[in-house]
Amino acid sequence: MGCQYFSPCEHGSGSFTIQIPKITFGRDCLQEAGARAVSHGMSRVALFTDPFLKDGAYVETVTGSLKAAGIDVAIFSEIRIEADDASVERGAAFIADGEFDGVVSVGGGSVIDTAKAAMLYALYPVGDFLDYFAAPIGAGKPMPGPLLPHLACPTTSGTGSECTSISVIRITELDTKFVIASPVMLANEALIDPACCDSLPGNIVASTGFDLLSHAIECYTAKAYTQWTKIEDPTKRPLIQGANPWSDLAATKALEIAGEYLVRGVNDASDHEARDQLMWGASLAGMAFGNSGTHLPHAMSYGVTHLMRDITTSDYPVPSPFIPHGISVIVSAPAIFRYAAEGAPERHLEAATSLKADMKGAGLDDAGEVVAGRIIDLMKQTRMPNGLTDLGFSADDVKSLAASSARQARAIKNTPRETNLQDIENIYNAALSYY
Ligand SMILES: [Fe+2]
Repeated sequence: MGCQYFSPCEHGSGSFTIQIPKITFGRDCLQEAGARAVSHGMSRVALFTDPFLKDGAYVETVTGSLKAAGIDVAIFSEIRIEADDASVERGAAFIADGEFDGVVSVGGGSVIDTAKAAMLYALYPVGDFLDYFAAPIGAGKPMPGPLLPHLACPTTSGTGSECTSISVIRITELDTKFVIASPVMLANEALIDPACCDSLPGNIVASTGFDLLSHAIECYTAKAYTQWTKIEDPTKRPLIQGANPWSDLAATKALEIAGEYLVRGVNDASDHEARDQLMWGASLAGMAFGNSGTHLPHAMSYGVTHLMRDITTSDYPVPSPFIPHGISVIVSAPAIFRYAAEGAPERHLEAATSLKADMKGAGLDDAGEVVAGRIIDLMKQTRMPNGLTDLGFSADDVKSLAASSARQARAIKNTPRETNLQDIENIYNAALSYY
């Protein structure tokens, strides 16, 4: 089935390109930060983190290791959870003023994404902040050159940002999030220490875990790379290039991990095996979707976080309105896969099998239902919201949600079915509640 999915298409790409950072994984590996930074020639480092981690043990470990290796360290922590343009501009000014020769990021996706974007705007300033964002909101300006050496240290098990060339930033003026992506944004190294997840509240493990699950299933079910139009200059091929044999490999393992360990890791903080596996699964999913792209669940999450109102999520120290990224993604996912499976039913069946769904008697016509049923089952077991209604939305919001998300053009094109505005409205309607 895999080979058939990647059959050559007229005018389609005949090859795919993979790029990932050097990766170190294991408990206590944050202590390697100093030696690894030296290996990249760093002597003065901007350490990006957030206000909640700044005085904590992980930053202390990394800072101690860097200083022991003879490296000057200056900490920047003025980063909003769900990073925004103001965080990036503050970070860019910090880098521009500091004469740094390297960046180390310690935190979740917001921190790592801010570090990537701040380097870009510090090194290659533009007149309009949106210049580097893709159309229709930005000018799609190419990134002129390399960034500083970057050592990324994730402290949550979901985003996979340490392994991707993607930065997701909230644009305050437009009140919504957009992606900047380029191979130059990829960190040089990732230090992935699963001990960082030992003390995470269950609700954070759940929302980040569903982000990892959705990254994996979206890239496994994405449009094949052979169906994207061939780019004449191969050096300009984007890493968001559609499903390919590499993303399949990493996504399949990440789905198996999510199917086996998500509920355990959420419900039992002392289950180190489960939480370590989720950390590895998040990085695998990052290596997968970072080289394929996501599709509708991520595209449609942006409408949710754009239009959310008067809502918070327990365990997150963030004022209303706030819906964690992973929840904004997964809340529409069952309805999306019921819709999308028609475009690639074999792939959806395979993904459901990896997620350990009940496959008894399931045929191609059941592909969307088995995926949706398994995701709903996992959402129930981890007390996730039962659809958009639980997040404060109603049928009256559907048109606005769809109009907002329709701007995520490239992700929507990565869906295995042609998808228009009416389809997106229909999916949001089907995602209002599930049971
Ligand atoms: Fe995500």
